[in-house]
Amino acid sequence: MTMKIVFATNNAHKLSEVQAVLGPSFELVTPRMCGVAEDIPEDQPTLEGNALQKARYVRSRTGLDCFADDTGLEVEALGGAPGVHSARYATDGHDFAANNRFLLANLAGKTNRRARFRTVVALLVGDEEHLFEGVVEGRILDHECGTEGFGYDPLFVPDGYDRTFAEMSAEEKNAVSHRGRAVRKLASYLHQREIVPKSESVETEK
Ligand code: IMP
Repeated sequence: MTMKIVFATNNAHKLSEVQAVLGPSFELVTPRMCGVAEDIPEDQPTLEGNALQKARYVRSRTGLDCFADDTGLEVEALGGAPGVHSARYATDGHDFAANNRFLLANLAGKTNRRARFRTVVALLVGDEEHLFEGVVEGRILDHECGTEGFGYDPLFVPDGYDRTFAEMSAEEKNAVSHRGRAVRKLASYLHQREIVPKSESVETEK
């Protein structure tokens, strides 16, 4: 038996990362598959606010159990920027290449390259709302490396590694990433509550 649940994203990279973490006991459905073709609003000042806003919006349009994620790259030397503005850091669109160039320009000459990715997942199931957080600490390189993944992946090296997320397989990235961590907490919660069958094993996160 699988749990059918809407993942409020139209980002194909996120969808495949999250499906890989959740495994076959979950059937992920996208907003578009449920007839929600318009942009989903995300104009809140925090990751938590945006994740809840996206999940509530899709829930109101579909009536289905649903979760959404929102992610920010928080760079120490930039006072936590781009943070909640990570998608539209350089331009108004989701221009990954322009965002990466802008980040490198803003960090030029700075020796502190510490950064972290933080993901918040908002879950709406039945009449409950829950938030799950995942964080990965690391550093920003001074040039792009790798072609896998998306967004800031070519610039981010997680602690304990000497390769960027864009040089890792999806499996390797998921094992340590912000989104992998948050989504394993989500899966663990749904299994513990027996909202999905308990027989399917899910790694729990400390
Ligand atoms: P979103 O609002 O959760 O889609 O994330 C905002 C922005 O953060 C995206 O447009 C990407 O630039 C970046 N981002 C989110 N997740 C990741 C990731 O896993 N790797 C690299 N960049 C990411």
